[in-house]
Amino acid sequence: MCGIIGCVLKAGSVAPILHKGLKRLEYRGYDSAGIATVYNGAIYLKKDSGKINEIHARLNLDNLPGSIGIAHTRWATHGAPSQVNAHPHLDCDERIAIVHNGVIENFLELKEELMDRRHTFRSKTDTEVIAHLIEENLKSGKNLLEATIAAVRRLKGSYALAVISSLEPDKIVFARNESPLIIGFSDSANFVASDVAAFIEHTRKAVFLDNGEAGYMTPSEFRIFRIDSGVEVEKRVIELTWTVEEAEKSGYPHFTLKEIYEQPHTISEALKAQEKYLDLLTEFLDRGREVFLLAAGTSHNACVAASYMFSKIARLNTIPVIASEFIENYGRSIGIDSIILAVSQSGETADVLTAVENARMTAATILAVTNVVGSTLTRVSRAYVLQNSGPEIGVAATKTFTAQLTVLAQLALRLARRRGKLAQYEIDELREELRKLPELVEKTLMISDKPMRELAKGLANARSIFFLGRGISYATALEARLKVMELSYIPCIAYPAGESKHGPISVIENGYPVFFIAPYDPTRKHVLGNIMEMKARGAKIYCVGTEGDNELRENSDWWLGLPKVHEILSPIIYVIPFQFLAYYLALERGFDPDKPRNLAKSVTVL
Ligand code: F6R
Repeated sequence: MCGIIGCVLKAGSVAPILHKGLKRLEYRGYDSAGIATVYNGAIYLKKDSGKINEIHARLNLDNLPGSIGIAHTRWATHGAPSQVNAHPHLDCDERIAIVHNGVIENFLELKEELMDRRHTFRSKTDTEVIAHLIEENLKSGKNLLEATIAAVRRLKGSYALAVISSLEPDKIVFARNESPLIIGFSDSANFVASDVAAFIEHTRKAVFLDNGEAGYMTPSEFRIFRIDSGVEVEKRVIELTWTVEEAEKSGYPHFTLKEIYEQPHTISEALKAQEKYLDLLTEFLDRGREVFLLAAGTSHNACVAASYMFSKIARLNTIPVIASEFIENYGRSIGIDSIILAVSQSGETADVLTAVENARMTAATILAVTNVVGSTLTRVSRAYVLQNSGPEIGVAATKTFTAQLTVLAQLALRLARRRGKLAQYEIDELREELRKLPELVEKTLMISDKPMRELAKGLANARSIFFLGRGISYATALEARLKVMELSYIPCIAYPAGESKHGPISVIENGYPVFFIAPYDPTRKHVLGNIMEMKARGAKIYCVGTEGDNELRENSDWWLGLPKVHEILSPIIYVIPFQFLAYYLALERGFDPDKPRNLAKSVTVL
């Protein structure tokens, strides 16, 4: 997730406006930034890696000439954060500058094609191919809008982009597919941006672009066309009522809630994880004598789920280990044929990095799944896959957990195929289930928000809450517990449902809230027995199961039915109600869900 903004002014200097707009978009990414303007027949460009303030201190981002320009704040997906990889990107002749938010899936083949035609690439980004495609189209006699439309017709993937050119210095051309893009307009300036927060100080009149639309703006007008047919479209004007602060959160009261609701999008971005890196990781995973899944906190819970995925479909046994325990438990026994798959959203967690360093010393192979290109973890690992979630501002991990699971499920599927452990029809079925995930998540968000908000009112004074699940749902129980505990500060317990009778059941007394996570999978047949054990001791049973499972419904005091989903993907769906529960419990109890006490987003101490 990156942030883009473009602005055409009737008069005056655009750079300070773009700089301020970038600051408002910084929550969308902050590893590098840049601004390009067009003035007097030339493109002016300033960009670098680092936070916007640091770049401004070095380069003075307010000081570029001209009244038309584009800007970008980056969250790297292709190519490490660096000056050359920062946006805007230029074509060979430096007549076009482009900013882009999204992922171009076919950029490697386009790049090869363009290099064969002698285009010179400066960066490792997917975006730069678009600048060169537009360059070719301009040379063939098209105007900037036609050249951009012809270029984006060749792209597979997601994009929101804005383009300026010294050949048509009075306009910005823009296009959108899957990544957000909004136009703001007033008598003195027109804007195009990833988010209204970028321009809401200047105008409250907005038009939201839909997928497959492109257009241009000059200081006096803007027009929008369908990319496929070229037909002009009329759009509805929206009068924005948000404050600047609300706009940064897209109207949600907290980043945590915004990020919970972003999951259909972040999962679909995680499904675009780069094939060649998935293949590389799969190859290494298949080679090792032993595979450790190394992580902390929520990422560890994702690893627990992943260990079920790997063994269930790829018949690979893996060991999920809490990072801070790794050296003591396995430090002396690992070696050259050990594989360490480190999972860390930030790529900077000290416990993970220390364990990885220890493993590296023994010549073990380090692989990673992370959200941050250029993080220490990406630099010390042999190969890594990005989860493409964009920055997560809420301290508690929500969208990054489900994105990690989505990447790990893709790895498990590839490994299963490579090892010949699934029949073709099973592979096809699971692929189809993965494809449908964003839709299913959307549906689950709709189903769960209100019931969990209501439930939080009743549970706000609970002294403790129990979470139980069998099989892969044990991982969901662990994550449900962590979310609820860290946001509401209610002490919680999570156990494999079958294990609870071996001790923890002794804490149960009349009315004790016990949640069962019980999708209709092979473990379901035993869940009823576990419910009965708890009921017999007076527990109040809250069950999240599969829609239509009347037997569980009838035996529960409270019930939420979720859509049917493939067993190994169930944590992605079943965690969602608990993210809501944690969020609403924090509100009910008067706590800030975005900033739970005593916690930091990235834990860089041991
Ligand atoms: C919980 C949470 C933490 C992190 C943990 C690891 O909501 O956010 O438990 O999951 O600190 O962080 P990463 O994944 O960055 O290594």
